[in-house]
Amino acid sequence: MMPPYDVALTALGARLDERGVRHSVSVAAMAAHLADTYGLDSEAARLAGLLHDWCKSMTGAELLERAGVLRIPVTDADRAVPYLLHAPVAAAMLKRTFPGIDAAVLDAIGAHTYGSATLTDLDMVVYIADTLEPARTHAGAGELRELVGVISLEELFTRTYADSLRHLIESRRRIHPETVATWNQIVGGEAR
Ligand SMILES: [Fe+2]
Ligand SMILES: [Fe+2]
Repeated sequence: MMPPYDVALTALGARLDERGVRHSVSVAAMAAHLADTYGLDSEAARLAGLLHDWCKSMTGAELLERAGVLRIPVTDADRAVPYLLHAPVAAAMLKRTFPGIDAAVLDAIGAHTYGSATLTDLDMVVYIADTLEPARTHAGAGELRELVGVISLEELFTRTYADSLRHLIESRRRIHPETVATWNQIVGGEAR
């Protein structure tokens, strides 16, 4: 059985500070709204949104160590930016904490930092909610929020992801190979 929202929220409160919990609750609400809008399972989206940052307060060293224990593949990109591992490590830990949780929920949590070459609609919903929840005020966030329900989920994700990539490039940050694979999957089908 999936953990009830309240149970998950209480457990999360023991792991994140107040600001982290506020962000998680906001992502949960936006993910549920996106799911409703695009005809997906809003309870799964709400739970994935709530729990996506389960490992956000762990240090880079802790994440690398835990990834090793959980046999999560660690690439050079992860060693350079271990913070990105807070997504896959969360998915693996939550599977043990809440054995009844849907695999689709865990996949969406696991893909919320560097993406996944096999993105599902739920993965896109959680990524968008994390990037565009109302407290996010980066350039373009407001415009993208106004497009919820106006354009397709895939188009909304593509625009949101393009903004994230643009930001990585402009700030000269490293781009994880999975992020590149995600982008190629999104645009791959189109002749250009
Ligand atoms: Fe996160
Ligand atoms: Fe987040």
